Amino acid sequence: EAENTTKKYIEKVQFGRYEIDTWYSSPYPGKFGKVPILYVCEFCLKYMSMRKSYAYHLYECKQRAPPGCLIYRKDDIFIYEVDGNKNTLYCQFLCLLSKLFLEYKGLFYDPAPFFFYIMCVKDQDGEHIVGYYARDKDSEENFNVACLLVLPPFQRKGYGKLLIALSYVISRREGFIGGPEKPLSFLGQLCYRGFWCYTLLEELSNHALTEKITLKELSESTGFLKEDIIYALQVMKMIKYFEGVNVICTMPSIIEARLKLPQFRKPRLELDPKCLAWKAGT
Ligand code: COA
Ligand code: NA
Repeated sequence: EAENTTKKYIEKVQFGRYEIDTWYSSPYPGKFGKVPILYVCEFCLKYMSMRKSYAYHLYECKQRAPPGCLIYRKDDIFIYEVDGNKNTLYCQFLCLLSKLFLEYKGLFYDPAPFFFYIMCVKDQDGEHIVGYYARDKDSEENFNVACLLVLPPFQRKGYGKLLIALSYVISRREGFIGGPEKPLSFLGQLCYRGFWCYTLLEELSNHALTEKITLKELSESTGFLKEDIIYALQVMKMIKYFEGVNVICTMPSIIEARLKLPQFRKPRLELDPKCLAWKAGT
């Protein structure tokens, strides 16, 4: 069975209107893990090995949205909070599907300790999942994201940064400073880096005397961990380590120049916190 998790058998998943090339192997059980094309219902996430059973399932399945609680709704974007302990099967199916696009992840067998935030785009046929993130219900290490995925057909449209923005708004409402569990994947790193840099540039440009801002103040205003802020400022060459202390060094003209670079540009989609019906402890 060890072989089953390393060798990649499933080459494609048929999912809604898309046939998606897979990136990594996933521990789908028995024969399901050994087919070249796996058929997955885009609404209930049930998997099938044969086109025929898939066609029958599509005819039969009445689900048109994720289970759980609708927490965000703006324009055609709908986000649900799903409890891994209550909708276990759905979350297991989601973990199996997402493993096809994630190299390492440990949460594939027991979704119970996690909340899943499912992002959908709604049209006349239903609410189509485009991506999600999972977070530990009570992380003791200030992690606000354990796992993040946007399905390949929907990548690079801004959904990743929208999910990241949501993760920070939720951890802020819970009253803690947090960040993603490390190590990040290559794409995860690119996405976070762009998000952190843009947010910090905005924050810095809102201050008249930027050189007076401390890391602590930036962390409080953005909700980002100090280590993530230091990393982003290093990427933008805006911080120096001087006599044992990190010193932010920048000025308005530098901030303006950085904001013009494509890798630090404004996210394509913005979260509207007014549309987020989520309160801590409910
Ligand atoms: N070349 C250059 N930059 C790239 C890139 C590429 N091929 N792919 C992504 N990026 C950077 C860009 O800065 C991009 O922003 P832009 O398109 O506005 O320039 C940013 O990353 C991605 O932004 P966004 O569209 O908001 O993210 P996304 O919807 O593509 O989702 C991930 C990002 C990481 C969630 C997605 O790539 C994914 O699910 N990957 C597989 C699973 C994974 O690795 N998850 C993270 C685990 S830590
Ligand atoms: Na995207």
